[in-house]
Order: sequence, then C-alpha cells, then structure tokens
Amino acid sequence: MAAGKGTRMKSDRPKVLHRLAGVSLLEHVLHSASAVGADRLIVVTGHGAEAVEATVAQSGAQAAASSAPDATTRECVRQSPQLGTGHAVQQAAPRLNTDVAGVTLIVNGDTPMIRPATLRALADACGGERLALLTVDLDDPSGYGRIVRGAGSSSASITAIVEHKDASEAQRAIREVYTGAMAAPTGRLRDWLARLDNRNAQGEYYLTDVVAMAVADGVTVVSAQPATATEVLGVNSPQQLAELERIVQRERAHTLMDAGVRLLDPARFDLRGELHCGADVEIDVNGVFEGSVRLGDGVQIGANCVIRNATIAAGAVIQPFTHIDGDTLGVSVGPGSVIGPFARLRPGAELGADVHIGNFVEVKNSTLADGAKANHLAYLGDATVGARVNVGAGSITANYDGANKHRTVIGDDAHIGSNCVLVAPVTVGAGATIGGGSTLTRDAPAGQLTVARATQVTLPGWTRPVKKR
Ligand code: UD1
Ligand code: CA
Repeated sequence: MAAGKGTRMKSDRPKVLHRLAGVSLLEHVLHSASAVGADRLIVVTGHGAEAVEATVAQSGAQAAASSAPDATTRECVRQSPQLGTGHAVQQAAPRLNTDVAGVTLIVNGDTPMIRPATLRALADACGGERLALLTVDLDDPSGYGRIVRGAGSSSASITAIVEHKDASEAQRAIREVYTGAMAAPTGRLRDWLARLDNRNAQGEYYLTDVVAMAVADGVTVVSAQPATATEVLGVNSPQQLAELERIVQRERAHTLMDAGVRLLDPARFDLRGELHCGADVEIDVNGVFEGSVRLGDGVQIGANCVIRNATIAAGAVIQPFTHIDGDTLGVSVGPGSVIGPFARLRPGAELGADVHIGNFVEVKNSTLADGAKANHLAYLGDATVGARVNVGAGSITANYDGANKHRTVIGDDAHIGSNCVLVAPVTVGAGATIGGGSTLTRDAPAGQLTVARATQVTLPGWTRPVKKR
C-alpha cells in the first residue's frame, strides 16, 4: 500500500519515496516483499502516483537485470481518491489470483525495515486458511491499531483490531499493536473486502475491520511477531525517518565491525549501498559510501570522504576530504596508491599501482599507469597517462573544444612541468619533458625538452613610469 499522502512529512514528495539509507522506503519494502517468492506483487498507488509508479517500474527493471531468483514482477493499481487502507486493498482485489487457497500478503509501504523472513513466517502462519497478523508490543502504542483479544488475556484468541481513534480508554491501554502487515486466505479476503464500511471515527474503509469479519466467519486469527520491534517501525515524520536512518546505519556499522572492519566511530558512518571490505580496512569518521564500493586489504579511508561506485585495491590510502564518484563507469584505484587530501576522482578514472593524486587534482575518464603522479592542482580528463609520469602543479588537459571531447596521450616517464595546457588531441612521447607554462597544440617528441611559451625577454634601459605632479 503506497497511496497515502504522508501528511506529517510536510513534503511535496510522496512519503514512500523519501529515502532511507539512500533507497526509497517503497523500494526497501518491494525488495523484502519480492524475496518472499510471491507470484505477483501489486502496488497500490494514489498520491503522487506517476512518481511512485516510475519508482516501481525502475525497481522491477533493476531486479530483472540482477537476475535475482526472487525477482517477482511488479504491477501497479491506482486508488483515487484515497479512502483508507481497506479501500486501497479493494482496488487490488480484481488482480488477485483466483486460486481461493492462495495467500495474499498485505504490507504498508512505510515500514521499510521489514525482513523477508518475517513476511515469510507471516505467510506460513496463514497457510491459506487462517488470518495472520504481524503484531508487536510497544511501550508507547499511541496512534496504532490495538490488538483486542478475547477475555482480556494476552494469550486468548484475537477478536478485533481497533484503531486508536476509535478505541475506548480500556482498549487504549493495550500495548499489543498491529504493525500493518497481514496474510489472508485470498478467497476469504475478497469476500471480506466487499463487505467493509466506513462507519468509524475517520470515515475511512479500514482494512483492519477484516479481523472481526474473520472471527464472525469462524476463521482462526493468529499472530506472528518480528525478531525486533525496530523492524516494523513506520515512517510518518521527518523525525521518525531520521531515527530509523540512525538505527539502520548503526546496524550496518556493527555488521562491518563484526567482520573486522575498524570504524573509528560507528555513529559517524553512512552506508547507502553495498560496501565489501578486505582484511584490516580502517575507516575514519564521516565516511559516506554509496552504490557499490569495494575496499581491498589494508585500505585506509581518511575522515570526510564520499565514495560511490568504486574499487580501491589493497594498501591504498584515501586521505581526508576526497570525493570519488564512479557513477555508471566506475572508478578503480590501484594497490598502494595515495589519493588526496582534497582530491576528486570522477567516472572512468582508472589508476594503476602506486599512483599519487594530491590536493585539488581532478581525474575523469583517464587511465594512469603504475607510479604516475599528479600531486597538486591539476585536471586530467580523457587522458592516457603512462607509467611514472609526473604532472606538475597547475597543469591540465584541455579535452573539450566546446563541442567534442578529445584524448591526450602521455608516454611513460614523461615529465610535464607546472602550469601546462595540453590541448587535445595531443600526444607527449615517452620520456619527454615539457617546460613549465607551455601550451601544447602539437605533439611533443619522445625523450626531448619541448617548450611552447613566449621566450623571456629583458628590455635594457626600460624605466618604470612615474606619477605626473
Ligand atoms: C495503519 C493501520 C493500523 C496500524 C498502522 C501501522 C488501518 C486502518 N490501520 O494505520 O492499525 O497500527 O497502520 O503502521 O489499516 N494507504 C493507502 N491508501 C489509503 C490510506 C493509506 O494506500 O487510502 C497506505 C499508506 O500509503 C501507508 C499505509 O497504507 O503505506 C498505511 O497508511 P497510514 O495512513 O499510515 O495508516 P495508519 O493510520 O498508520
Ligand atoms: Ca502509518
């Protein structure tokens, strides 16, 4: 169910598209739901439907591309206007399989941490004949639907779910709440949905009213509990979203530390994708890792680095304030390389072993062979840089003529002086030396000194002008 507005988020963006650990709430739920192995996955959309449906389509394409065995096809059904959770599921009813013994699993779109194993257990508890509810005991149950059990005992069978706004004083004291996930026999569910009404405090069609109908029909109502209450925490406000983000990040940090990664401070670490680490990796504070990042044995990441879609080989050191973004092309840093502080590696940067990239150096779509160095204030774009090349401070490749990009090729052991402009397409031969301040517009031969700048002159007898009185 992803049609609600999420009023308390106070945002133009539909609630289920807000991000937790870099991924929308809805995608988290879709990921778990598709891992259950359902025949089909139906998303109810409404508020911000176009954007939500685009996200559903994109996540489906990603799942199909990853050829995950559990990639269930996703389809959307619109709910307009949004008249409550029961009304939402009514919109999906015509799409449900006609197999009456089947199981329909219903999940709120705003409980992103729910695990596949929990949903699986819920579906098993239903077994096509019982109504199974995922419930949890909360110290502060306000706002949630309360689980009402017969004879007031906590082990007696469930008789109803009563929404907070409809609950009596005594019912509000119940700490067991409905988490927003249930599994129902499909045939029965279709029948119950058709009988829902909106005679309640909010004038909405409540999905939770099916519980009392199941009891009246003699269908057993059972409950299942998640491993931890955090798994079913809903997101209704920016505060709850931020709290959940910290919980998720703490869990991820602890999983990494369990595997031997040394995080200097797990409270100042953010992983918004996948991070694979070798042995003895050290990560200083305020690291942000996005997409897919691989760190080889002994890699050190300095404070305040942002790294996305990159592979960093064994022994490399990424010094503080370095930004690495591989985007779709990726970035690779070879073993023993030293990058930063304040360096920027962009898509297609491929660095060999023992490469040094220093402060305020930008590298894009370029290969640097083993031992190449650009230590200060340089730009290398669309360049092929040979082994042991040294690029002086302030030197750049002028790769863009205003319309097209061109390549610069620099042979092994070349030495580019400071403040040079290599106007591409251009080739510097192996072992060449380029004098500081040169603007190269033609190839420079191997092994020789090339200087391309105005010759220095001194004017004899010149005097400095003086101010007229
Ligand atoms: C719902 C449950 C409540 C439970 C709580 C758990 C009902 C009546 N109440 O309340 O028992 O304790 O979840 O978080 O089901 N949605 C639609 N269409 C609508 C209304 C909502 O698709 O017309 C979707 C929302 O996008 C959301 C989910 O249903 O993903 C839950 O809606 P929300 O309004 O947050 O329900 P709660 O009031 O929290
Ligand atoms: Ca909610």
